[in-house]
Amino acid sequence: MTGPRLELMWPGKDKFLVVPKDDAGKPVWVERDHPAASEVRLSDFTGAVGDVPEDPHGANLLFIGDSLDVLRILCEVPEYRSHYRGKIRLVYIDPPFNTGQAFEHYDDWMEHSTWLSFMRERLLQIRDLLAPDGSVWVHLDDAEQHRMRLLLDEVFGPANFVATVIWEKADSPRNSARQFSTDQDYVLVYSRDPDWSPNRLPRTAESDSIYTNPDDDPRGPWLPGDPYANKPYSKGLYTKTGPTGRAFTPPPGRYWRISEEKLDELDADGRIWWGPTGNARPSIKRYLSEVADLVPRTIWSKGDVGSNRTSKNEMRAIFTGVSSFATPKPERFMERVLRIGSNPGDIVLDCFAGSGTTAAVAHKMNRRWVTAELSTSTVEQFTLPRLAKVVHGEDPGGITKSVEWEGGGGFRTVTVGPSMYEDTPFGVLLAEWATNGRFARAVAGQLGFEFQEDAAPLCGVRGRMRLAVIDGAVGPEEIRQIVGALGEKERVTVVAKSVLAEAEATMKEISPGSRIRKAPRDLLTSGAERMRRRTEVGTRYTHESTEGPQS
Ligand SMILES: C[S@@+](CC[C@H](N)C(=O)[O-])C[C@H]1O[C@@H](n2cnc3c(N)ncnc32)[C@H](O)[C@@H]1O
Repeated sequence: MTGPRLELMWPGKDKFLVVPKDDAGKPVWVERDHPAASEVRLSDFTGAVGDVPEDPHGANLLFIGDSLDVLRILCEVPEYRSHYRGKIRLVYIDPPFNTGQAFEHYDDWMEHSTWLSFMRERLLQIRDLLAPDGSVWVHLDDAEQHRMRLLLDEVFGPANFVATVIWEKADSPRNSARQFSTDQDYVLVYSRDPDWSPNRLPRTAESDSIYTNPDDDPRGPWLPGDPYANKPYSKGLYTKTGPTGRAFTPPPGRYWRISEEKLDELDADGRIWWGPTGNARPSIKRYLSEVADLVPRTIWSKGDVGSNRTSKNEMRAIFTGVSSFATPKPERFMERVLRIGSNPGDIVLDCFAGSGTTAAVAHKMNRRWVTAELSTSTVEQFTLPRLAKVVHGEDPGGITKSVEWEGGGGFRTVTVGPSMYEDTPFGVLLAEWATNGRFARAVAGQLGFEFQEDAAPLCGVRGRMRLAVIDGAVGPEEIRQIVGALGEKERVTVVAKSVLAEAEATMKEISPGSRIRKAPRDLLTSGAERMRRRTEVGTRYTHESTEGPQS
């Protein structure tokens, strides 16, 4: 059945939101055909810390740039796409909560509509990056969590809602609060697939302490289990006489959970408890040695995972004498998220890095990680030095001791470049920096071609389609030269800043199926179309392959 869907609407939902870098003005709405709505930006490897693999795209990555640009790069640029699209096991995000506050290191203030558009755009990309057995964890407070729940329903489907985790973030009441002193934050958990199953958590001394051994059972401590059940059971109505001669029958409306034969069998094996004097209702013993690890629960106390104060102290221990990052999360809190949703070797993503807690904890827990932070000063002051300390084994705090982290591994930094386009009163023009090799690389990423450094006059490949980028005008002479470099059955997409009249005719004659595109005009239309197709919600989303766009 098709018909109108239940969905949260807001002014501007059909538009695209441009977010300025480093507080350089307010976000602005633009139409969907604006270059920013589809551009895949150029990025550069700008540094490495510790040991990194030969393929730079497969390293742990700290991106400096806007989360949306980073997500698009991971989804679209072939060198990244093959590593990340459909392969990320866990995404945790702790975005600006929209609390109306200006923190020391970042502003947290947007209109509700603006915030929703901002988040929706990013969630659509996150959806494509998640592995079939992946999950997304969105950390918020009361300012937006109720709206985010509807948005997550829209993007991931209501059947993929898993849980709302309530984290006790406050240590003590805030008596200056005008109405209530708020104790908790929320983490909304959605899976990529409704059959997702979380890892269980290791048992703790506290969870084990409720097991006792009053009868010195050689099988060890146990808990008394209810012998009755509510569900009707054909062998569940009988009278049982205990060791002291007292008779037991289930209370009205209830049944024995096991048959009389089974009860006798367990009793003979010492697995039934009749109380200290043998006169009590029988209990079925549940042994500590036989119970599984713990299923995750939704209330996370400060005693178990730390509070805001814990994380502030962790920050102070890493950065002595510096005012703490405003909103770090405790390492034990992140450890629990990562234990439930990932295993060693899995890829974990956080595109609102802040002080870098997710990456730091993922690193210590032997996960692979990708993280992104918009603010250059936050990266320089907190994220980068913190992660470097983790690599060099110079961060003894947080979970370091409990997971026995001693240092090792490494990561790369990647800087997202400026836009390739300039929106001027005369239309969209190419930015001044878009020349020569950088122009070619930017076009390759934009059109989903793998970039080839030493293949002139060609510079990219996507299956049997090759790419040639000309920083100027293309005429018949250039077309002949480019087509001459093609292999058998290959076609070419030629991108040039201007196209001379006879170029098209020559191409048609000598390489039918090849094409010429004029930059920036044709790049914009094909980018907008690709992004529209990819981020459409409403048609049931099926998992895409990691193949690139074919148009
Ligand atoms: C709540 S903090 C994250 C704190 C982090 N979980 C930690 O433990 O330190 C949100 C971070 O997102 C960053 N941010 C805001 N807008 C962003 C964007 N568009 N892209 C990437 N990062 C952004 C802010 O600069 C801030 O550092």
